[in-house]
Amino acid sequence: MGAELVTMGAELVPATGAAMAATPEAHSAAGPITTAKGEEHQANVCAGMTGQQRRLQFLLLCDAFNSMTQRAKLELESLGHEAVVGVWETKGATIAMIKQVKPDVILCPYLTKFVPASIYENRDVPCIIVHPGIEGDRGMSSIDWALHDGAKEWGVTLLQADREMDAGPIWATKTFFIEREHPTKSSLYRIECIDVAMVCIREFVSKLQSGQQPRPLDYSKPDVKGRLRPRMLADDRTVDWNLPAHEIARIVRCCDSQPGAMGTILNKLVHLYGAHVEKQPDGNLKALVDERQPGDVIGSRHNAILVCCGDETALWISHVRLATSLIKLPATMALFPDAEPPIELPHIAEPKVVLPFGQWPAASTFQEIFLWQRARIAYLWFDFYNGAMNTEQCQRLTQTITEIEKDESTDVMVLMGGRDFFSNGIHLNTIEAADDPAEESWRNINAIDDVVKCILTSTKLTIAALVGNAGAGGVMTAIAADLTWTHANAVLHPSYKAMDLFGSEYWTHSLPKRVGSEVAHQLTSSTDPVSARQALSLGLIDDILCENSLRFVEQVVKRAEEIAQDPATLQHMPEKKGRCRCPQFMAALESCRRNELEKMRVCFASEMYHAKRRAFVTKSRLMSCRQ
Ligand code: COA
Repeated sequence: MGAELVTMGAELVPATGAAMAATPEAHSAAGPITTAKGEEHQANVCAGMTGQQRRLQFLLLCDAFNSMTQRAKLELESLGHEAVVGVWETKGATIAMIKQVKPDVILCPYLTKFVPASIYENRDVPCIIVHPGIEGDRGMSSIDWALHDGAKEWGVTLLQADREMDAGPIWATKTFFIEREHPTKSSLYRIECIDVAMVCIREFVSKLQSGQQPRPLDYSKPDVKGRLRPRMLADDRTVDWNLPAHEIARIVRCCDSQPGAMGTILNKLVHLYGAHVEKQPDGNLKALVDERQPGDVIGSRHNAILVCCGDETALWISHVRLATSLIKLPATMALFPDAEPPIELPHIAEPKVVLPFGQWPAASTFQEIFLWQRARIAYLWFDFYNGAMNTEQCQRLTQTITEIEKDESTDVMVLMGGRDFFSNGIHLNTIEAADDPAEESWRNINAIDDVVKCILTSTKLTIAALVGNAGAGGVMTAIAADLTWTHANAVLHPSYKAMDLFGSEYWTHSLPKRVGSEVAHQLTSSTDPVSARQALSLGLIDDILCENSLRFVEQVVKRAEEIAQDPATLQHMPEKKGRCRCPQFMAALESCRRNELEKMRVCFASEMYHAKRRAFVTKSRLMSCRQ
């Protein structure tokens, strides 16, 4: 990843984002976060760097420029330091890279390799590991075991690399409560672990700047609760369908999104993802569960399958990867690649789209699209796995938005996206698996364009509220709303360059309107992530409502209700209705879409796009994983 890679057998990603205006606002760090000990940590802003503190050169040594590495880079830059990302390829190349970069500090936000002695023995350049585990925890499967064992509290530790993996002296450690119901491993890593890791990074930098030393790991201390854990093996991740559904779900979640639990379905060995216990079987479904055997697939809903488990329970599995394949797919697409529609599986009707206010379906059934309604506001959730939106999902979303549009009891539509991701644009995996990927790319981009068109032409006040991060077309979907809000820890990837696409989703209309043509060009020409503060300073988003995702939804509701009750909002509605339906506006939108799609046709025919997409959808399967 990265616009211009300097390679010496290892990848270096440039430290400076081309588009990032160097304003103090753009660089101010993330704010307070409450840890399990109830401490509030205030960010040390760039402008607050004292005379004794010098600008440090960090090398972020990692397996991949993943979400933790992206946040570490943004965090260090916000503190006024330089951060070069170096992707480990070989030991020799890494040592050469260090000689080239000459860092003051090597920080490893996501590294699964043993650090060579020549690196950790060099006390002039400390090499610091970000370990996603509590103090004393060691090993490659930290979060996996924490979720497997049902831990109520977990944490992150920054330690100095040493001869023994994860056993070096400790610079900082922070814990958090696992308050959410049933997070997956990736979700816990991407949200809670990354948030406290940034607190640890700030503490480390401040200790380093003031000449403090790390303390040794001491298992005799009563508050050191972690221990060395073995790598979680395939046996530990294998599900037995005779267990009750909630126990199987726990096993699936502790290795979702990588490497996935193992199980046998329809006599095929598969990796399992996206587990949701069915807790509300109606009479027919209950009868079906009662009469079938554990392991039997008893129905499907929107490409997810419902599997019978022990104790007459049932579990939804939304995604599957055949052991013989590298591509993770919606379950029925993986299991019945040639059947259209899927064969012999009863369709299990979706529950009502409108849920009681504040209710999450994830713990009780499989439901991607749902609505909360209150005080003339509709909160529309589209919780698609990994934020990827395939053609059929986009069509269902368009249909729901169209229904909201018709509802005269709604003035404000808040687009919430999903809890882990707002949206990452078109679904590269289902495109990859299609008979004709170019044609499926075309169908998918048109379907997502239809979603965005509904937002742009909505007669309601539209607000995009990003609980989760967004990428490519997902960012452009969010900025199509009248207002776009997020929290300080969100990260946006407004570029399509990673896939070598021009992009659509009416970005040529929405992006320059918000940030101007020059910044729009810079943002779409770089693959650098953009922090929420940078996005606000650039005008890409309209507001940051709070410091992290945990209290964000309640802030969104509070603010949306204030807006909906403000007489000025209602006063502007007729004007908005007139504007969005005016022929010139519609013609301008159509022209944007036509121009974008012409360029996308060319992209979809290019071998570069197909090669990049193929590498992207199979990459994680080829990497070992520590997250
Ligand atoms: N289609 C299918 N899967 C997608 C996806 C997409 N558009 N975007 C992300 N994912 C999946 C990843 O494969 C990964 O899956 P896994 O954990 O099951 O292996 C997961 O979502 C998380 O993505 P990852 O890349 O690990 O997260 P990140 O925070 O490091 O990076 C992005 C975020 C958005 C930069 C990166 O995911 C990306 O470039 N996505 C593609 C965006 C795109 O080009 N969309 C199409 C054009 S609209």
